[in-house]
Amino acid sequence: MKKHKEEFDIYAGVFDNYTINLLYQIMNKGYFTEFKGIISEGKEANVFLAKNNKKFLAIKIFKTETSSFRRIKEYMLGDPRFPRITKNFRKLVFLWTQKEYKNLMRAYEKGVSVPKPIYNLKNVILMELIHDKNFNPSPPINKCKSLNYKKMYSLVIKEYEKILDSGLVHADFSEYNILNRNNKPVIIDWAQAILIEHPRVLEFMERDLVNINKWFKNKGVIVNDELIDKFKRKIIEK
Ligand SMILES: Nc1ncnc2c1ncn2[C@@H]1O[C@H](COP(=O)(O)OP(=O)(O)O)[C@@H](O)[C@H]1O
Ligand SMILES: [Mg+2]
Repeated sequence: MKKHKEEFDIYAGVFDNYTINLLYQIMNKGYFTEFKGIISEGKEANVFLAKNNKKFLAIKIFKTETSSFRRIKEYMLGDPRFPRITKNFRKLVFLWTQKEYKNLMRAYEKGVSVPKPIYNLKNVILMELIHDKNFNPSPPINKCKSLNYKKMYSLVIKEYEKILDSGLVHADFSEYNILNRNNKPVIIDWAQAILIEHPRVLEFMERDLVNINKWFKNKGVIVNDELIDKFKRKIIEK
């Protein structure tokens, strides 16, 4: 049975017609049955909660109006998967979304702790919702009131090593993009992630490590600054 488009009418002020049509299409393909509230409103994308019968999903919708062209270009140039950068901004955002989906898929297949990717169409990504036992979305580690920082740091570094082994560098690795699911890290936000063949890979990897070490150090953890050189060698030897 076809779902009615009117179900999305309440979002008329939030989404443009184009996005409402897109969500309606995805719903009719059978990827979700209920569209729920917003989880996060960002500069580049909004994330919503949805359900597919009993399963909880996160729907990330990239903004086609306000994303930063300069930022997108910086991480698309040099990626052999995206040889042509289009001048059409809407299309560029579709490619950017596809880039997140591909990165997520690759990380997922290589066993990195990430939300399971489900579907991508245009500027929309469906993925597994990372949640607690009451089905509330898991918070990023910077929003956690109680956390064993030392243990979390060691798990986070293990994930980072797995990311490198999967042939990627995250390039926006921070306390905002690590969700805490039951005291274990889940890494999100993959659009800017690059292949390790990328000409600026060492710079982006170092920045990731400096960021994350700084945050954990601030929380009283004895961090390992030698990791940067260790990972550099790892990348160069690949
Ligand atoms: N799969 C998911 N499960 C639960 N929460 C999520 C999921 N994906 C994103 N979120 C929430 O949405 C926020 C923004 O997502 P993110 O991918 O980091 O987008 P951006 O930072 O570009 O706005 C995250 O900080 C997190 O709170
Ligand atoms: Mg983010």
